[in-house]
Amino acid sequence: MVKVKKWTSADIPVQTGKVVVVTGASSGIGLETAKELARRGAETILACRSLERGQQALNAIRSEIPTSTAKVMPLDLASLTSIERFSQQFRDQYGRLDVLANNAGIMGGAYTKTEDGFEQQVGTNHLGHFALTGHLVDILLATPGARVVTVSSLGHRNAQLDFDNLFYEKGGYGGSAAYFRTKLLNLLFTYELQRRFERSQAKAHSLAAHPGFSATKLATEVANRLKAALLFRLFNTLVQGPDMGALPTLRAATDPDAKGGQYYGPGGWFEERGHPVVVSSSEASHSETDANRLWELSENLTGVRYSSLNSKGSD
Ligand SMILES: NC(=O)c1ccc[n+]([C@@H]2O[C@H](COP(=O)([O-])OP(=O)(O)OC[C@H]3O[C@@H](n4cnc5c(N)ncnc54)[C@H](OP(=O)(O)O)[C@@H]3O)[C@@H](O)[C@H]2O)c1
Repeated sequence: MVKVKKWTSADIPVQTGKVVVVTGASSGIGLETAKELARRGAETILACRSLERGQQALNAIRSEIPTSTAKVMPLDLASLTSIERFSQQFRDQYGRLDVLANNAGIMGGAYTKTEDGFEQQVGTNHLGHFALTGHLVDILLATPGARVVTVSSLGHRNAQLDFDNLFYEKGGYGGSAAYFRTKLLNLLFTYELQRRFERSQAKAHSLAAHPGFSATKLATEVANRLKAALLFRLFNTLVQGPDMGALPTLRAATDPDAKGGQYYGPGGWFEERGHPVVVSSSEASHSETDANRLWELSENLTGVRYSSLNSKGSD
């Protein structure tokens, strides 16, 4: 029997000269992703909504990797104004973008809206990243081999998609249901972006990743809301840490053999834990009809258009 080598952070190629942006790098999987990319020499930008938490994350990276040139830049994905400001600042300072890790995410909670009037989870997890990637698409296209890695979840398989009630304004909101929906949107976006890169003959790639189940703030906050903290604390000791949870993102972002359109997740126990491998996603996530509809809707809602990419194949 051929033994498959387990991919670890030691497999990340040297990243010197590369520029990477990790959203939600103040904690959990984003922090680990940023740290490992910085360790391999990438100019790493921690895109964080709280400068204070971003600075704490940066201090943690610098204490482990004193040579790191990592920086924090403010980015609130629940605000189109903040996304535009971040993108402008980034473009003013950098001439390339090798990896955009669309990692930040929120899960559950009561129904609230972003400042732009989007349901909070759809607004943050999908529309925020859609707008950010769109603002940065030209610099991605100008960087040979650039990758966009969007973080989804096993939970995308439980999603119900209803374009006529995307923000649950007609009712039916549930914290988990909305979260699962956003994770399906992340995959529809990933695959559609890859198709548009290919049609435009771009040298950029769009991939997705999921961390399995990883003991992070996101999981703990949900537990606290559910008043099941004790149960989750017990569970947290059984699930993998954020360092393992970050490996699928890191592999998608750096493995020279990774290809656009691939989805990475843990290769072990029900994809909840283990070393990263290529995994499959639901049939719904591959619907080109839904992906196109989502794209058009996202452009209209955010006002961000990917005008450098071909939207339609040539007949
Ligand atoms: N943990 C898991 O088991 C699991 C499973 C499946 C998928 N995921 C996915 O993994 C990704 C990372 O989550 P995590 O588990 O590492 O959770 P986490 O520790 O809570 O990290 C989430 C990050 O997102 C940031 N964030 C939240 N709202 C933001 C906004 N409006 N603008 C910018 N940043 C924002 C948070 O910043 P603050 O520090 O300011 O809160 C934090 O840095 C998410 O996309 C999540 O859906 C996680």
